Amino acid sequence: MKKRILMVTMVFLLLPALAYAKVANTIDELVQMYDDSKCKECHPQVYEEWQQSYHAKAVVNSLKGMRNFYAIGVPKEWERKLTKTEVLKCLDCHAPAVRYASEELAVKIAKMIVEAKDTKDEARREELKKELGKLNVGCLSCHNIKALSISRGLLGDPEPGTIYTSHMIISPAHKTEPVNTLDKSLFCAQCHGRYTAPDGEQIMCNTLSGSYYNNYVSRGGAETCQDCHMKKKNRGHRFPGGHDLEIVKEGIGFEAEIQGVRHTVGKWIPRAIIRVALENKAGHRIPDG
Ligand code: HEC
Ligand code: HEC
Ligand code: HEC
Ligand code: HEC
Ligand code: HEC
Repeated sequence: MKKRILMVTMVFLLLPALAYAKVANTIDELVQMYDDSKCKECHPQVYEEWQQSYHAKAVVNSLKGMRNFYAIGVPKEWERKLTKTEVLKCLDCHAPAVRYASEELAVKIAKMIVEAKDTKDEARREELKKELGKLNVGCLSCHNIKALSISRGLLGDPEPGTIYTSHMIISPAHKTEPVNTLDKSLFCAQCHGRYTAPDGEQIMCNTLSGSYYNNYVSRGGAETCQDCHMKKKNRGHRFPGGHDLEIVKEGIGFEAEIQGVRHTVGKWIPRAIIRVALENKAGHRIPDG
């Protein structure tokens, strides 16, 4: 009898622990845990915009850099074992869902990235790219996984299944919770800036946010990343940047003064004097890198 009670207590103790310690063992399990495809049904426009963004291809667009880190940097330059901690040094920003992958799956994903770059077999490369294409900065990367990190001390960890937004909105379709993080520049800066891994290593993939705070905000610049990259001109979830001519033009002030003149050096030579002024109007250094 005593034994039975003990068993029952153990099951109760184990259940909640299991519910929260859920980790994925395959890419498909991971994608299902953070399934963005169902958002498309009810938010078709946002989904379509996001699909055009670099957030939607944040792994396949950066394969080469990651391949070098996983195949050369970690094992050869630093002589370290490829572990989930190492893998997350890139993927915590490029595909935040990988945080919820098992140790084995995280390492497998890194090996797939290396193989996708190295294989000479065209069909195999396409197959790998298709799988890796399922990993990205998706809807739930921002509206759940990374939504509270800039204020974790106050807000805790995100709850699975809850959609965080900056508005007071109640949805009949899913649990929504308003938080004051998503409309802040710091929310973007957690990925668009220097990164400190749990083991203390600093990763400098891009440093744009440093220049936003040091050269723009400190001189009185008042617009947020969201103002310029989402709200302005209804850019929404397309997040245009350096690959988009329209916003690139906006970032560069161009003034030209053209004067027609004639020089008389022996004979009349028509010339033009052109004065050009270039000015950076973006909220940070450009280009980034
Ligand atoms: C069955 C329909 C449905 C599905 C599926 C759905 N949503 Fe929603 N969502 C809504 C409705 C309705 C609202 C209420 C506000 C509105 O009408 O936009 C809402 C609100 C939101 C908001 C807050 C909007 C705001 O103005 O702040 C966010 C963010 C959001 N959803 C994201 C998502 C994400 C991410 C997914 C996929 C994981 C998703 N939704 C799936 C119907 C849906
Ligand atoms: C702090 C979050 C973060 C971490 C960690 C991170 N990245 Fe990035 N990475 C970004 C962001 C944000 C961009 C886009 C920067 C831009 O366009 O200004 C980017 C861009 C890139 C690009 C350029 C893509 C292009 O358009 O050419 C490559 C390649 C890349 N990252 C590789 C890596 C590798 C390899 C690692 C691991 C060593 C890594 N990143 C770690 C956030 C991160
Ligand atoms: C890179 C981060 C990021 C990604 C990825 C992302 N969102 Fe958002 N989303 C935001 C931010 C930031 C806001 C606006 C916050 C503000 O300024 O009020 C927002 C606003 C919204 C809103 C409110 C209404 C609107 O149109 O602005 C909805 C609905 C929404 N997101 C749904 C989605 C869905 C669905 C996806 C995936 C297709 C998605 N988001 C992907 C960051 C993101
Ligand atoms: C989870 C991490 C993450 C968050 C949060 C995030 N981004 Fe990104 N963003 C990335 C990565 C990674 C890339 C680069 C993808 C690649 O090319 O590999 C990127 C790309 C971009 C680009 C395109 C850059 C180019 O070269 O065209 C813009 C613009 C951008 N992000 C703006 C924002 C803004 C604004 C926010 C805040 C609302 C934000 N991002 C939040 C990770 C993030
Ligand atoms: C005052 C408006 C403004 C603000 C504020 C702003 N940006 Fe930009 N951003 C721009 C413009 C304009 C460009 C295009 C210029 C270019 O890339 O040549 C740009 C380009 C970018 C790029 C692409 C850089 C590249 O070289 O590919 C990224 C990524 C980006 N911004 C992210 C952010 C993030 C993150 C924040 C907040 C920390 C932010 N921006 C704040 C206007 C702004």
